Amino acid sequence: MIRRWFSLGVAASLLLGGCAPKVTDAPPPAPEKKAAEPGKDAGGANPGKKITVGFAQVGAESGWRTANTKSIKDEAAKRGIELKFDDAQQKQENQIKAIKAYIASKVDVIMFSPVVATGWESVLKEAKDAKIPVILSDRAIDPDNPELYATFIGSNFIEEGKRAAQWLVKKTGGKAKIAELTGTVGSAPANERKKGFEEVLKANPGMTIIKSQTGDFKRDKGKAVMEAFLKSPEGKDINVLFAHNDDMAIGAIQAIEAAGKKPGKDIIIVSIDGVKAAFEAMVAGKLNCTVECNPLLGPQLFDAVEAIVAGKPVEKRIESKEGVFDETQAKDEIGKRQY
Ligand code: AHR
Repeated sequence: MIRRWFSLGVAASLLLGGCAPKVTDAPPPAPEKKAAEPGKDAGGANPGKKITVGFAQVGAESGWRTANTKSIKDEAAKRGIELKFDDAQQKQENQIKAIKAYIASKVDVIMFSPVVATGWESVLKEAKDAKIPVILSDRAIDPDNPELYATFIGSNFIEEGKRAAQWLVKKTGGKAKIAELTGTVGSAPANERKKGFEEVLKANPGMTIIKSQTGDFKRDKGKAVMEAFLKSPEGKDINVLFAHNDDMAIGAIQAIEAAGKKPGKDIIIVSIDGVKAAFEAMVAGKLNCTVECNPLLGPQLFDAVEAIVAGKPVEKRIESKEGVFDETQAKDEIGKRQY
């Protein structure tokens, strides 16, 4: 069935000229079959066989990633799906190696979260030739070629960047000298959060980015880069920090305090993710706002796995619904956070 789904899916998308977001890329209807046991293949080539999934994770660079990995492992265990898991330690070559190993071992579905956006065509073509469907988890690929994957499940990073900037416009009245800590160079969240943020800045000429450098989504790097920002000639002018994730913001808070300034007051800070540590920093008055990015993708990912294996349709792009939380809501919200 997966074999058939792939060839028909490719033919259909060629005919339709590619797929737009939210469009369902429907495989042919599966023949009536009796319900599968959880984690087993109901309508695929091997009915009753345990489903095996290979997941090539980015690494363990942040609190967000830790929560994401836990969600995926917990959900696989809950459904009785065999999960082969690899931590690529933020290296693309490790992810490619893991994906090739999953192809060689003939898993039913491959999932991965691309550490950087480019450079995936060749290995994804290998997966396609082997008739193994691929799910993009959390991060997209560039160029986007919908023929190379079954579905993308994750956040709208451009919107997250816009939300961070829109909150700042309100908070600062449209006047700010901004330091920016960007995520991993070449990654979809770093590229797209920057893009969304700068789109809003274009309409607000009183807000300018005066320093920008990567902190690789890591707390220690966020701290080191912020230290360097504050020591630079422009350091005394910085009154806003935009960090592409909470971990870098938390590292930067330590650097700001070490420089004798008050984070959250002398320097207004907005970051992205919404992990519990960010809520703690907001309650302590050191962080002003976090834009939510949901890492708890396990249930949606495995819903898609089971649908694909059963030959059912899946949407080409499934986006998470997310909010914005600031210092005024932190105390009420902190107890409700799941990650
Ligand atoms: O791809 C999601 C991003 O990756 C999160 O915002 C960041 O914390 C993580 O490392």
